[in-house]
Amino acid sequence: MPFALTAEQEALRQMVREVAEKAVAPRAAEIDRTGEFPWDVLQVFREQELLGLGVPEKYGGAGAGVLSLCLAVEEVARVCASSSLILAVQELGLLPILVGGTEEQKQKWLPPIARGEKLISFGLTEPEAGSDAASIKTTARREGDHYVLNGTKRFITGAGVSDWYTVFAVTDPEKGARGISCFLVEKGTPGFSIGRHEEKMGIRGSPTAELLFEDCRVPAENLVGKEGEGFKYAMMTLDQSRTTIAAQALGIAQGALDFAVQYARERRQFGRPIAEFQGIQFMLADMAMKVEAGRYLLYRAASMIDELGIEERGRERLPAEINRFSAMAKAFCSDSAMAVTTDAVQVLGGYGYIRDYPVERMMRDAKITQIYEGTNQIQRLVIARSLLGL
Ligand code: CAA
Repeated sequence: MPFALTAEQEALRQMVREVAEKAVAPRAAEIDRTGEFPWDVLQVFREQELLGLGVPEKYGGAGAGVLSLCLAVEEVARVCASSSLILAVQELGLLPILVGGTEEQKQKWLPPIARGEKLISFGLTEPEAGSDAASIKTTARREGDHYVLNGTKRFITGAGVSDWYTVFAVTDPEKGARGISCFLVEKGTPGFSIGRHEEKMGIRGSPTAELLFEDCRVPAENLVGKEGEGFKYAMMTLDQSRTTIAAQALGIAQGALDFAVQYARERRQFGRPIAEFQGIQFMLADMAMKVEAGRYLLYRAASMIDELGIEERGRERLPAEINRFSAMAKAFCSDSAMAVTTDAVQVLGGYGYIRDYPVERMMRDAKITQIYEGTNQIQRLVIARSLLGL
């Protein structure tokens, strides 16, 4: 299907590229080294109104759509993967409300998220429930006009920094996936605390930690949508949010390719720039093919979601084609990012392996994109199931 960005999307890409070059790129190495969350970058994103890109205008957002959000994530990831995750996680955290919330909940919760006043994270994964997301053990017991949550969430991106969390918990253990519900839990709720912070290989400026619930009383009105529908909301969220991880991976790969091309032109060995050697040229050509192929797959997947109306994005299930395309984009772009960044390190040789140059950081950052929001093995399972109509 032919594909072109609109003038608005091109303008957004240009604007985010300038912001990323000016305010994010100079900070990227330091963010990685210190492992500190970049509050200054968050503030820039707020000022540029990037945190509500994926939120419909009706709920206080820019209504720019998923493809526009992906363009923004891609441009930021080109210079700093940790910072790009601020935009991707905001979308991931809010999507359960957008797909499952009542009209009243959307009106109440989405505007402050869209304005960036509230950061929101997604709490699904647990120590014993990663790929097998339906096997979560955190419970939510109804007690009068409250639910009481008990359990532990692990590997939660944005934990501690976020103000709000969409948390998945079992309300009826007899019903399996149909016994899971989703809750909006606010930071500071008694019984809710942040546990262990993980020391990670990459995306070091993005906090990853546990969420601990010990008799945490959440008002019943914070049940997102309907009881027992949480797992479905989580799956529908991931069907859409996986595009933003593909965008992050694509941006990392583009950043590594750009750097490798520039380096190959400048670095001289055997009396000439290494760009003149076919061994280098073929690597760069393969890297460029992976980046461009991933880009078209991703933009197609994102625009397919944008073609749906907001109501359709919250129905029983997204069309199988979208479920498949977003998994294909996520798996392809992240596998490509790993390959492209590894080759970028190779092009730079010994200099690629040291911290004076950004490609080793890009390689470490790329790895997680093959793992989170569903490992690439799970993506292949999703693609095959959709392809075979299972
Ligand atoms: N949309 C709507 N409903 C769906 C669905 C979808 N895409 N996929 C499944 N469902 C429904 C099914 O219809 C079924 O409902 P019924 O019982 O009413 O028929 C129910 O969910 C259970 O379906 P399955 O039996 O197919 O589920 P499963 O247990 O086999 O699991 C899975 C399917 C695809 C493997 C799923 O567990 C999965 O996606 N796992 C990966 C989890 C994941 O991606 N985690 C990421 C965490 S977030 C993160 O990483 C964020 C970060 O750090 C940035």
